[in-house]
Amino acid sequence: MSENTSMHGFWKSRWLFILAATGSAVGLGNIWKFPYITGENGGGAFVLVYLLCICIIGIPVMIAEVSLGRMGRQSPINTMKALAKRSNASPNWAIIGWMGALAGFLILSFYSVIAGWALSYTVDMANGDFVKISAEESGNIFGALLGSPTQLTIWHTVFMLLTIGIVARGVNAGLENAIKFLMPVLFILLFILFGYALSSDGFSQGVNFMFSFDFSKLTTESIMVALGHAFFTLSLGLGAIMAYGAYMPANTSIAKTVVIVAFLDTAVAIMAGLAIFPIVFANGLEPSAGPGLLFQTLPIAFGQMSAGVIFGTLFFVLVSFAAWSSAISLAEPIVAWIVERFQVSRYKAAAIIGLSAWVLGLATVFSFNIWSDVKLFDKTPFDLLDFLTTNILLPLGGLCIAIFAGWKVSTTKMMDEVGIDYPVLFKLWLFTLRFLAPLAIIAVLVNGLI
Ligand code: TRP
Repeated sequence: MSENTSMHGFWKSRWLFILAATGSAVGLGNIWKFPYITGENGGGAFVLVYLLCICIIGIPVMIAEVSLGRMGRQSPINTMKALAKRSNASPNWAIIGWMGALAGFLILSFYSVIAGWALSYTVDMANGDFVKISAEESGNIFGALLGSPTQLTIWHTVFMLLTIGIVARGVNAGLENAIKFLMPVLFILLFILFGYALSSDGFSQGVNFMFSFDFSKLTTESIMVALGHAFFTLSLGLGAIMAYGAYMPANTSIAKTVVIVAFLDTAVAIMAGLAIFPIVFANGLEPSAGPGLLFQTLPIAFGQMSAGVIFGTLFFVLVSFAAWSSAISLAEPIVAWIVERFQVSRYKAAAIIGLSAWVLGLATVFSFNIWSDVKLFDKTPFDLLDFLTTNILLPLGGLCIAIFAGWKVSTTKMMDEVGIDYPVLFKLWLFTLRFLAPLAIIAVLVNGLI
């Protein structure tokens, strides 16, 4: 059984854990990234592989990650140290915590820059800058934002301050309060926009694009992207959800809770796709537009709608809120560790991490303008950070978590912790964790890298 103390506090109820974990999971990954990588990877077949990755790998690993967190009740680094000791495993397993803290830090640095785009667009939308604009003008607005290090840095700064401000206040006064407000608003906004897409001309074409399976479009690269994204969107593999698990009440079933979170996250991604692609098709735009899809293509459509200023503003508020509740979970593992390790206040720990991630974020800022020609392995600093974390560090972290939870922690302890009521289901989960998930991750990683 888990220990029952966490120096950082607890979620006040199971629902608050669900909201917090969903808040972490639902973010830029769902609304910005999922639609554009689906577009780049040809639609339906990619969506199918992604869904398989969520079910076969994502959910089992997520159950494991939350369980480890609740068993350890500390920051992921110290949780892994403690659990390795308790299980008589090598102290080197703490690498899961270290790698995760690093990945969280790296992701936070670029996440904040992209979230800054959403903040900037919220203001532009409300200003009416997109009313009746052409595709070319929209491209120019996006280009002007990306081309301006000053603009990008200003919004990156604002977003980082918002994030760190919440993390600094701690689990209850910060995270919990923010999430109680952000998540309901987010769901309401999503429903409004989805309703709009449903009534648009391109709806059936959008559905078609997302759900017709053309396997000829599937490459090894896209399978790797699908797996990486499954981890990214569920906030898996870096300890974020482990840290949240550490604050979970002792008597709730982790398995059931995780299934709800994974379902909500997937539902939001699909809904975001179904809200965006119809608009793309109805306006004769390209689904494969890449990272600009959300920022370049959608505003054109909002510009043509009768209440476009309102819907467009709401939309970017939604994106900003989703990003905000995710970013706090990227910072949480390492901030919690600093508090434990150096006995400093959360304010100090959050400020240190925020400032460092802000500085590193400038590399992403410059990737879109003055450093756009600086390339390593054919990737800009931003692309490199994204690839390294999402496609390598997260799957690797997930692999280690699966192996540690599956093979190193005693099965009886695991059974106590995860809360899977049926022995058959528990066995199935354990089998997946021990064999299926690790093999699948290794296969995809090896294949993708060579
Ligand atoms: N899941 C978030 C998204 O989809 C991003 C995120 C937050 C994340 N915390 C994480 C990704 C931890 C990986 C690990 O936008």
